[in-house]
Amino acid sequence: MSSEQKPWAGRFTEATDKFVEAFTASVNFDKRLARHDIQGSRAHAAMLAKIGVLTGAERDSIIHGLDEICAEIERGEFEWSVQLEDVHMNIEARLTQRIGEVGKKLHTGRSRNDQVATDIRLYLREELDRIRLLIRHLQEALLDLAEQEADTIMPGFTHLQVAQPVSFGHHLLAWFEMLERDHDRLRDCRRRVNVMPLGAAALAGTTFPLDRPYTASLLGFDRPAANSLDAVSDRDFAIEFTACASLIMMHLSRFSEELVLWTSAQFGFIDLPDAFCTGSSIMPQKKNPDVPELVRGKSGRVFGHLVGLLTLMKGQPLAYNKDNQEDKEPLFDTIDTVRDSLRAFADMVPHLQPNRDTMRRAALQGYATATDLADYLVRKGIPFRDAHEVVGKAVRLGIDTGRDLAELSLDELRALSKTIEQDVFEVLTLEGSLKARNHLGGTAPEQVRRAITTARAALSEAR
Ligand code: ARG
Repeated sequence: MSSEQKPWAGRFTEATDKFVEAFTASVNFDKRLARHDIQGSRAHAAMLAKIGVLTGAERDSIIHGLDEICAEIERGEFEWSVQLEDVHMNIEARLTQRIGEVGKKLHTGRSRNDQVATDIRLYLREELDRIRLLIRHLQEALLDLAEQEADTIMPGFTHLQVAQPVSFGHHLLAWFEMLERDHDRLRDCRRRVNVMPLGAAALAGTTFPLDRPYTASLLGFDRPAANSLDAVSDRDFAIEFTACASLIMMHLSRFSEELVLWTSAQFGFIDLPDAFCTGSSIMPQKKNPDVPELVRGKSGRVFGHLVGLLTLMKGQPLAYNKDNQEDKEPLFDTIDTVRDSLRAFADMVPHLQPNRDTMRRAALQGYATATDLADYLVRKGIPFRDAHEVVGKAVRLGIDTGRDLAELSLDELRALSKTIEQDVFEVLTLEGSLKARNHLGGTAPEQVRRAITTARAALSEAR
């Protein structure tokens, strides 16, 4: 087979239009699947020999040829040809060029339809495992920082208004939890990715007595797909992965948003290391949080790919349609984006520099212990709604006189409610407020340390 001649040229009398050839080719992007295409072909050849369709010598020659092609590709010496359309036909043509006629036997009992579906699953499975590992790296970095910052007090926000004081370590653990669910979703997604389409052939199966469980076991798949029409056509596994990736990017984007806010002069909670920032070409004072900003921005393309893939799939009748060739670029870009974003964060988090005094001052500014005062009154027998009213008045007095609740005198407080006594000042401190929230999931530093221990144990058990 010369590189000019298509493997399917038999029934054609005219050559393909040059523009159509380029328009329909996928090799420029699906060559990324080369290693997995070869992996699948090796297993297919081994299985064909096992059932007697190939001789042992033919199998060895094919496998050896494929290994050499793999090395050629890795060395960057392989010549990809658009005339040969896609990664599959490029490799098959090269195999025959290298080992002669026996190369033409490899495609027995197989179609590019089950071949490509298998390649994508092998490729995605590998990338999925790398992404899960990166999530773990980021989680570990968060745990280390949370441990270091368990006693650091910052304002917790609702509506981006100061709400109640929290431990910075506790805040970091919130991000840890989001990533834990992201990791869990990928593990679940992997079960559905790890099913083998090979043997479905074009759509209906094949007349050869393929040993599909054997091929599946060689490739590390949990099982062969149960229905040939479904196996070659559905890309729900790629859509599911992209949905998982969208949630990861959504989480990283929220995380980014906080870092962008916190590194601003107005917040000043965090300094990012210079290595993760860039300057401005005109404003000499600038140090911009580029990495978080870019990650926040990149979430958009992943969400777009999710909608793109859903739309790609929704109109397709069974079984394979060429539409499916369009699954690759969005999937590849999703993988690259989520992987690089996680990596950037895993590298950056250990170098975040918290400004503890600034955080503390911010927590002191917003009447963050108002709820603690209300709870104090309730413990003294005042109904919560009345307590709320009393504290509202205390906050008003603070605002009018430019003081925090802890700076009001006992007399001033007693003027609002006679039940208030000297011990009130314990609950009005930031430390007292945190310490009081001492239950599972609460922000007391003791609980934060406990949560870290639990999380560490869970991570090492999952390993
Ligand atoms: N390049 C194709 C794809 O990515 C491979 C399968 C082509 N099958 C076919 N019958 N034309 O989907």
